Amino acid sequence: MSEEKPEINFSKLPFLNNNLELEKRVEDLLERLTLNEKFKLCAGRRWWYTKPLRRLGMKSFAMHDGPHGVRVDTEGKIQSTYFPSTICRAATWNPELSEKFGIAIAQEVRDVGAHMLLAPGINIQRTPLCGRTFEYQTEDPYLNKKLAVAVVKGIQSQRIAACVKHFICNNQESNRFTVSSEVSERALQEIYFPAFKAAVKEADAWSIMSSYNKINGIYGSEHHHLLRKVLMNEWGFKGFVVSDWGATNRTTSTESCINAGLTLEMPTLSKYFPSKMRIAFNEGKFTEETLNDNVKRLLRIMFLTGLFDEVSTLPQGSRNTREHQILARKIAEEGMVLLKNEGDLLPLNMDKLRKIAVIGPNANIQTFLGGGSSTNFPPYEITPLEGLKQKCKEKIEIIDSPAMADVTIFFAGLRHIKGMDAEGDDRNSFALPPEQVDLIKKTIKENSNTIVVMIAGTSVSMIEWINEVPAVLQAWYGGMETGNASSAILFGDVNPSGKLPISFPKMLADSPAHVSERTFPGDEKVFYEEGIFVGYRHFDTKNIEPLFPFGHGLSYTNFTYENLMLSKEKLTKDEILTISVDIMNSGEYPGSEVVQLYIQDVESSVERPLKELKGFKKVYLKPGERVTITFEIDKSDLSFYSESHGKWIAEKGNFNILIGDSSRDIRLQTGFEYLG
Ligand code: BGC
Repeated sequence: MSEEKPEINFSKLPFLNNNLELEKRVEDLLERLTLNEKFKLCAGRRWWYTKPLRRLGMKSFAMHDGPHGVRVDTEGKIQSTYFPSTICRAATWNPELSEKFGIAIAQEVRDVGAHMLLAPGINIQRTPLCGRTFEYQTEDPYLNKKLAVAVVKGIQSQRIAACVKHFICNNQESNRFTVSSEVSERALQEIYFPAFKAAVKEADAWSIMSSYNKINGIYGSEHHHLLRKVLMNEWGFKGFVVSDWGATNRTTSTESCINAGLTLEMPTLSKYFPSKMRIAFNEGKFTEETLNDNVKRLLRIMFLTGLFDEVSTLPQGSRNTREHQILARKIAEEGMVLLKNEGDLLPLNMDKLRKIAVIGPNANIQTFLGGGSSTNFPPYEITPLEGLKQKCKEKIEIIDSPAMADVTIFFAGLRHIKGMDAEGDDRNSFALPPEQVDLIKKTIKENSNTIVVMIAGTSVSMIEWINEVPAVLQAWYGGMETGNASSAILFGDVNPSGKLPISFPKMLADSPAHVSERTFPGDEKVFYEEGIFVGYRHFDTKNIEPLFPFGHGLSYTNFTYENLMLSKEKLTKDEILTISVDIMNSGEYPGSEVVQLYIQDVESSVERPLKELKGFKKVYLKPGERVTITFEIDKSDLSFYSESHGKWIAEKGNFNILIGDSSRDIRLQTGFEYLG
């Protein structure tokens, strides 16, 4: 190993040759690095960058937050499109839209001259109290993986790296720097791994961010088993692992992180001071081969993202374009979920109303200061009230007195502040602030035609007033186009098609993580005692009725489900079962339906959920239109992870196929036998 290497003329060096195979370029560049240069590459410089190596013409590799828009600085000098919160995008149940989102946000990353987006966040929503539930997708591993794969593919199609975070079991913000998530192997395999695994295996994710927390006693950034064995060896991850910002501070040692496979320590130095690395190296605590593997992973992604290329040769960047704003609006429109609509109060009829009262604390708030790393700075954000004013202009008078109005729209909810939907702290209560509850109750007395629009990144208690309110729209945080999207839905320009990606409990105690203090938030340890029974898996098994079930979401039209058919009645281990079902729009509005397929294992040697999502399709139908939808399943969709065998197993026997428009509204059902 040579220490000092002379200045070189790099104009014709192999690693700069775009026509050379990627691995040869990586090897060539690695060969040219001194040990010190390798050390230097392993830790960040300032908040968003790696250190440049001018001797080799290597610029800083630049990365930015976050999941809802590109944020470069803290004052908003550089603006970007503010997309709806991740949970809102997940509520679209539309992987195509997620892919388009990935493409658009990657174009914004390119436009600011960076190489990696610190997103998507795909931790499972274990509890509604997690401060970052709004930044994550869903409680269900299947939906999670379908959407994660789509986003990662979209981002990376632009030669921008996705950084899938936070690996793993970062399901609460309380004590996030110290807590250990105590989780079973089965729960990891069935619930927490699948989306990360699919992001790697199906979308070739170029980077993974290790979490702040420990997993079964070991910090994510030094978890040899999870990083080297599972992520790299079993799943074949070729990209690099970057620590969450400051996540290495409490890890055991320099070598434990290096040996585990952590390439990049961000944002600045803690365990990866070159001097510390050198001492550990000289003491034989890690080998140069291990270090090389870590460094090669970063070099690989530098090439893939075009760090050494002329920008003009890369996919073009763009930012704050009309197209991106339209996409942000489309995601918001498809993601908002109509929870309740008694007496068809919605959609509102522009010609029949004279006065609308628009009230509530969230009617005129902006949400782009996203409570941590989701913050970004858009050129504008249309509040719900502004959207309604624009919509009702000169046709309907907007007032603030429910008693005087034909209809009242009450914008309730949370905001991105400590103790609500914000990074770093969990919510301090499941309840809405009491003054909001009082105000909703008072309003409904003054005007029975009250619609509650809930602006929140998770479920909040509604039990105090839900029976008295005829209509509720879950609007999440809808990004810069919130006001336009919510008005379009309220007035029926857009037929709602969002479906809940999480179960909404009636009360917190019904929720699986809230059995005791030790199951949430834990102190040194948080015990995932519910195991695989997260979300609807818990509500189903324990026979608890949620307020609104996973997959629920109303439309202004009706869909009829007919003719459920299977390609065979008996399935062997190498065969595929094709399932078909006819869906018809039997109502009066054009609209989209999310057809959901759940599988039920009738009898099993281990405890299994009552049903598990294994397919979904979103279809758009005009009134009277009918379509046949098909799904394919195989042995893997029937399997569970057996801890005693250390592998996935599908047991012979009977299975049911349940087709529904939510996890609790199963419209058709049939069965088949798995022969093994
Ligand atoms: C968050 C990450 C984020 C990083 C950089 C951390 O505190 O947990 O999600 O990407 O900061 O801002």
